[in-house]
Amino acid sequence: MAIERTLSIIKPDATTRNLTGKINAKFEDAGLRIVAQKRIQLTKAQAGEFYKVHAERPFYDELTTFMASAPVVVQVLEGESAIAKNREVMGATNPADAAPGTIRAEFAESVGENSVHGSDAPETAKEEIAYFFSGLELVG
Ligand code: CMP
Repeated sequence: MAIERTLSIIKPDATTRNLTGKINAKFEDAGLRIVAQKRIQLTKAQAGEFYKVHAERPFYDELTTFMASAPVVVQVLEGESAIAKNREVMGATNPADAAPGTIRAEFAESVGENSVHGSDAPETAKEEIAYFFSGLELVG
């Protein structure tokens, strides 16, 4: 096992319901360390660039409108196998399928408004972290 970093986003449905602290507690309880974090308001264009891999999907417009609808908290999580561990802590994309105790099972409202995003692989984690953070902001 290796120490990894992954990009996490606490989405508008969660920030507007004041759930940032409860979600961060889930990460920390699972052994993930928040090594960078900021609360920002994305434009629809910035959300569109971040999610460009989904540009042809029918939900792309809904997804990017939602991500720009209120502040998000972007963060870098670090730990042993952080990418897979974060995906475990988040639970399945659709909260109806998410295991009990996961963030999405407890907090998500729908497949679209599902409270959190996490990188899915080492290469995407690297790209997604670089989209939001400079090296100077990653203090370990
Ligand atoms: P996320 O992990 O951020 O990656 C892409 C996002 O697209 C996903 O979480 C969901 O929020 C969203 N998404 C996936 N499928 C659908 C769908 N059928 N309808 C709306 N949004 C979706």
